[in-house]
Amino acid sequence: MIYQSTALHFDKQSCHIYVGENLLSQPDVLIPHITGHQVMIVTQDTIAEHYLKPLQALLSDYQCDVITLPQGEQYKTIEQWLKILDALIAHNHERSTTLIALGGGMIGDITGFAAACYQRGTNFIQIPTSLVAQVDAAIGGKTAVNHATGKNKMGVIYQPSCVISDVNFLKTLPEREFIAGLAEVIKYGLVCDATFFVWLEKNMSALLAKENKTLQHAIATCAALKAQVVQQDEKDLGLRHILNLGHTFGHALETANEYQVILHGEAVAIGIALATKLSAELGWLTSKDVTRILQLLAQANLVKTVFDFPSAADFIRTMRQDKKIHAGKLNLILLKSIGVAVKTSQVSEAQLMSFLENEKKRGVISE
Ligand SMILES: NC(=O)c1ccc[n+]([C@@H]2O[C@H](COP(=O)([O-])OP(=O)(O)OC[C@H]3O[C@@H](n4cnc5c(N)ncnc54)[C@H](O)[C@@H]3O)[C@@H](O)[C@H]2O)c1
Repeated sequence: MIYQSTALHFDKQSCHIYVGENLLSQPDVLIPHITGHQVMIVTQDTIAEHYLKPLQALLSDYQCDVITLPQGEQYKTIEQWLKILDALIAHNHERSTTLIALGGGMIGDITGFAAACYQRGTNFIQIPTSLVAQVDAAIGGKTAVNHATGKNKMGVIYQPSCVISDVNFLKTLPEREFIAGLAEVIKYGLVCDATFFVWLEKNMSALLAKENKTLQHAIATCAALKAQVVQQDEKDLGLRHILNLGHTFGHALETANEYQVILHGEAVAIGIALATKLSAELGWLTSKDVTRILQLLAQANLVKTVFDFPSAADFIRTMRQDKKIHAGKLNLILLKSIGVAVKTSQVSEAQLMSFLENEKKRGVISE
């Protein structure tokens, strides 16, 4: 059953986002978005085990090939990307073929990049199976692979023709991955929808219990909010930056922990906590707001993981590498209030340094 269907319109194409349950048993959701007579599904073993058969059954009238990639962010590489292209060539896929990404954000990013490059661009469909992918990665057209020197160094913006998010997929997602995805869900409430933030405060237990109606409402709301932002700034030149709330600090934590100990969403949650406290220091958030935000993160079982909190100097160094500090000028996404994020260069490097030093001493989630 479709719970919500949203259409995003760009210069040259549209992208339909479907959120619901049992969507792979409804041919009228996927089939109208397939072009040509060939399909290449890109997935991973664990995901294939649960969801490949129903998808293949839906595609019995097509030449349907499958490639499985290894699991883990370390495999989002140009070598694995080339394997997808090799498979397309080996199975004689024409330009009219459709690539389907069946998996989390890693599979979506690498498959989208392959679709953008194969024969100068083929049809591409996202079937996201993780919470991060359903609320964030699958929407907006950012595709990429990593380089030894950093994440997402090579990629393009290339829109899928549709995104099919079935909440039942989340039932097999490892619990830690699900919780990490909640950081991105909370982010949307903070960045652009105070009403959704209040809804999350009331419904976090139901979300953690993965109640279908609650999950559908949360995912559909996040998808619609991301769609609204992306539609106004597809190329990520301005407004879209607000969706990076918590990500600059989060990236410094990921770098300090070498991407092994801490999941992306867990790092984003700590980043959100830091952005919250810095916004309060500027007098933008009240202490009551700060308490509400930290409480919601804690309620979602976020910011509990043991990890290395970098020194203020290391934080600043990573931010400089990320071009978030340029010629002594800082660019941060902070909160004017719950539901309103802004990009600001109002914080000086010295102010940030002393804030981070204090946070390291205090422990980031203390109120
Ligand atoms: N393109 C974007 O706009 C965007 C936005 C955010 C994140 N990303 C990217 O997304 C990636 C992170 O995404 P992710 O958190 O989904 O990680 P992921 O794709 O690595 O998935 C995490 C793990 O969960 C498993 N998994 C996924 N769905 C499952 C299911 N339903 N059942 C059982 N196991 C399942 C995967 O096999 C994997 O082992 C990163 O590469 C990040 O850079 C991209």
